[in-house]
Amino acid sequence: MKIGVLYERWHETEEYPGENMEDTAAKKKRKRPKLDREEIFAALTKLGHEPSYIELDGENQTLFAIARAKVDLIFNLVDSYGGNDSHDYNIPAFLELLDIPYTGTGPHGLILAQDKSVSKKIVAFHGLKTPFSAVSHHGRVDYAHDVKFPLIVKPSSEDGSIGIDVGSVVTSVKELMERIDRLHGEFDCPVLIEEYIEGREIYAAFVGNASPEALPLVELDLSRLPPDTPRIAGREVKFERDSEIYRLTKSALAENLDEDAIERLQEAGRTAYRALRLRDYGRIDMRLTSEGDIYVIEANPNPWLSSSAEFAIAARGSERTYTEAIGAIIDAARSRYPHRFK
Ligand SMILES: Nc1ncnc2c1ncn2[C@@H]1O[C@H](COP(=O)(O)OP(=O)(O)O)[C@@H](O)[C@H]1O
Ligand SMILES: [Mg+2]
Repeated sequence: MKIGVLYERWHETEEYPGENMEDTAAKKKRKRPKLDREEIFAALTKLGHEPSYIELDGENQTLFAIARAKVDLIFNLVDSYGGNDSHDYNIPAFLELLDIPYTGTGPHGLILAQDKSVSKKIVAFHGLKTPFSAVSHHGRVDYAHDVKFPLIVKPSSEDGSIGIDVGSVVTSVKELMERIDRLHGEFDCPVLIEEYIEGREIYAAFVGNASPEALPLVELDLSRLPPDTPRIAGREVKFERDSEIYRLTKSALAENLDEDAIERLQEAGRTAYRALRLRDYGRIDMRLTSEGDIYVIEANPNPWLSSSAEFAIAARGSERTYTEAIGAIIDAARSRYPHRFK
């Protein structure tokens, strides 16, 4: 198949903050990690497809390039447009108008997952636990449970731990007010105030649609963080490669989980995956408390596909190579267009 690997250029500097840095010794020492799109391109070639890149840069001209592209399928890696990640759902919406098949979640699922306050209500309807929360937009309260400290304060519709750092967990009204004020200053979206759930950070990845296959669970081990640092996957943990916090945390296949917990986590993940209309592949972030309670934190449609990221770790745990994992995503996408692909 001719496959267009669609991505937005703007995103690169965010994925690898190092690329943005002054010419420091640290930057020189560090080899540029392969970009996810390069790894996917190589995997598609190995699978016998003919990949090509289609780059968006926030200028409308590049949208026309999609319309003109002669491809059978788009591998959609776009999670923002013009740097604005609330635009992510418009890309698959545009592809639908153009009648071009594409991988991953559609506009509907992207909208649901993007608004954490909405997706929490949906998973709660399906009987899953999600932390009690309140939502504030410039002082107006959208809804409020009777939340109790400690709380975590985060933008209601951002991703990649934008707006989440070591100061996000608050234990007093003063800290809470300051944090809310700060997020309102930085972001245009409402602020989600959630009960902080102490527990293991577990990721459940899925591939497929009608009966999505649960891949082995992945855990981000936060237990080695210094005692005064909240055990959360904030910006430092995810991106600040030179920080101690980054070095002390790592994701790997989850160990020391009994069969019952594994099954409950995968089932909760699958319910959320379906309820939020995720497609082809996705990852549900959860917390498992010492009492065995499972809380859904958020859903990630089209999660990061770098070979070092959690989805690929989970896929390797299912005895797939990285190339096979990419192949499984293509197969899932193809099966949604039965009249197009025989
Ligand atoms: N209610 C919560 N209780 C405990 N930790 C949380 C909670 N909400 C978020 N976190 C921590 O913050 C991280 C990032 O939050 P998340 O909502 O997943 O944001 P993002 O969409 O930016 O990934 C989570 O992976 C988790 O470690
Ligand atoms: Mg997350």
